[in-house]
Amino acid sequence: MKSVKSPLSVLFVCLGNICRSPTAEAVFRQIIVNRMNEGSMLRDMIIDSAGTGAWHIGSQPDSRAIAAGRTRGYDLSSLRARQVSNQDFSQFDFILAMDNDNLRNLRNLSSLNNFRGHLGLFLDFSPSSETEVPDPYYGGSEGFDHVLDLIESASHGFIDYLIKTCD
Ligand code: 4NP
Repeated sequence: MKSVKSPLSVLFVCLGNICRSPTAEAVFRQIIVNRMNEGSMLRDMIIDSAGTGAWHIGSQPDSRAIAAGRTRGYDLSSLRARQVSNQDFSQFDFILAMDNDNLRNLRNLSSLNNFRGHLGLFLDFSPSSETEVPDPYYGGSEGFDHVLDLIESASHGFIDYLIKTCD
């Protein structure tokens, strides 16, 4: 892993920052709380999310994402969408994309900003055979449930990785 600072920081990124990445932010934050005693680096992590697109800046997460999260005990309601900024590339150790389209956009921005951290797909940390978190925006509520399954699994895998590599 490259040039990680203390506290560790992670930015989850999707397209709109109203469905997948705010779900990742809330789920990861909660799972970190549950596993806090497994590693000192978990105690004061900076966790945030953003979108590569600008359409939903300032909006609450999609009501379907809030509802799906609530059924599993995750609270997304206080989150507000923002767009990825150049500053993010100097502030975060990990920038984790939900899919390859967003990863491609982030790669372009990261080379312009001389990013020294880890940029990759969030699901690289999951044992799941799926590599991308599919966009649930134009589908039904089952899509939001599937997003939660993938994000819970990747959150545990990412925490396992941090415990193994950062302590
Ligand atoms: P997200 O989902 O990237 O997971 O937040 C989307 C939200 C909005 C749109 C697309 C995807 N949109 O086209 O407005």
